[in-house]
Amino acid sequence: MRSLFGRLRPHRLVPRSLVTAARQWSYLMEMSDWIGGHRAQDLDVGYDRFQLFDLVAVREGLDREAIEYLEFGTAGGAALRWWLARNPAPGSRFHSFDTFTGLPEDWGGIKAGTFTQGGRTPEVGGDPRVSFHVGLFNRTLPGHLLQPRPPRRLVVHVDPDLYSSTLYVLTMLAPWLRADDILLMADFCSMRHPTHVFRAFHDFVAAYGLAYEVLASSNFGHQMVARVTAAPVDARSALEPTKP
Ligand SMILES: C[S@@+](CC[C@H](N)C(=O)[O-])C[C@H]1O[C@@H](n2cnc3c(N)ncnc32)[C@H](O)[C@@H]1O
Repeated sequence: MRSLFGRLRPHRLVPRSLVTAARQWSYLMEMSDWIGGHRAQDLDVGYDRFQLFDLVAVREGLDREAIEYLEFGTAGGAALRWWLARNPAPGSRFHSFDTFTGLPEDWGGIKAGTFTQGGRTPEVGGDPRVSFHVGLFNRTLPGHLLQPRPPRRLVVHVDPDLYSSTLYVLTMLAPWLRADDILLMADFCSMRHPTHVFRAFHDFVAAYGLAYEVLASSNFGHQMVARVTAAPVDARSALEPTKP
């Protein structure tokens, strides 16, 4: 059987579009299963993502306490400015990661370069709490993660649309994540793009065993907010010598 498969290499007989459609369908089914398993429909607050952010900010105290906000995919800065206005704590820090030249790859039918800001960072009224990390995540994030994780609660806004970018960010951040950190996942239950953010999150959870609780969602799961309930990587146990 294996030798027949190797000789035939059946992918040559199946149109690529059919393979893509089959993958889309399989992740739509995973998504349907996930929605049921996480009561995501009951936790939906409506269409507006800012209504969702507001609900979570008030309920979790993210409008008062000093937070470490990390945004992956900022584009024109609409969400970043919203969080800056909503969290006035002087001890908060806001880190924005983006190329500001748009998506580095096609996102389904949406072409690379979409969301470009011509390389310019967005206007934030000179707020000294903001730092921009301009470039591809795989160029800017490793250096940022060399510093110790700040003691403030992480609010991680994952909004880069793409599977590759989302999986990269989540896996790189895994050693920093702790119980009570917040993950804001954009374009999550996306019917058009089920093989991107949802798939990346699904693969990340499978690999790292991330324990989380869904707090709420908007637009039928298109935006999803989760609270980490246990650190996915126990850095101390990784440092302990293994017993012979
Ligand atoms: C949907 S937009 C972000 C929208 C924004 N959060 C808002 O609230 O308006 C997605 C952004 O992700 C960025 N992006 C995607 N993958 C990236 C990567 N690997 N490195 C850097 N930026 C990336 C794109 O440049 C684009 O600006």
